[in-house]
Amino acid sequence: MSAENLAYAVAQVVHNFGAAAVVGGAVGASWLAAGDFGRQRSTAWLVLAGWAAQAASGASLGAISLHYYGQLPDIHGVALAALWLKVACAIAGFALAALWLWRAADWSEAARRRAWRLLTALAVVALAAAAFLRWFS
Ligand code: HEM
Repeated sequence: MSAENLAYAVAQVVHNFGAAAVVGGAVGASWLAAGDFGRQRSTAWLVLAGWAAQAASGASLGAISLHYYGQLPDIHGVALAALWLKVACAIAGFALAALWLWRAADWSEAARRRAWRLLTALAVVALAAAAFLRWFS
């Protein structure tokens, strides 16, 4: 078994489950936990962990290339724009999930719902950008 392939696969497993957590968590909190603050709060922890996992595993995918080839993947144009879009979504998603955990106890249910919709949008945009990164690389 190649150590390089194993490293990519392990990082990709974390990355795939992180994507499932940020998309599924935000969608679930919006539509399945409406009005249930306790359940939304648990889900906010899952979503926060998911965004952190995406940033860490995404950076690991780049670091593995650096380790084995001495350089980052040579991407440009649409692929580079898609990567930066994912990075921006990860920063905004992590910050918003952290803000939710810190402040949402004082928010109205409508404000919480708006935050979940925004978290859903960030996750959906990042997941869509992943396809452009993959096929324009
Ligand atoms: C700091 C943020 C991120 C970085 C640095 C990053 C980086 C990467 C890299 C380098 C790849 C491998 C691309 C390839 O070689 O094909 C990848 C794949 C992928 N990323 Fe990310 N990513 C980030 C955030 C996200 C987020 C937030 C999501 C989804 C919500 C996501 C979903 C995916 C998926 C689904 C793939 C696999 C695409 C495929 O092979 O079809 N990423 N990412």
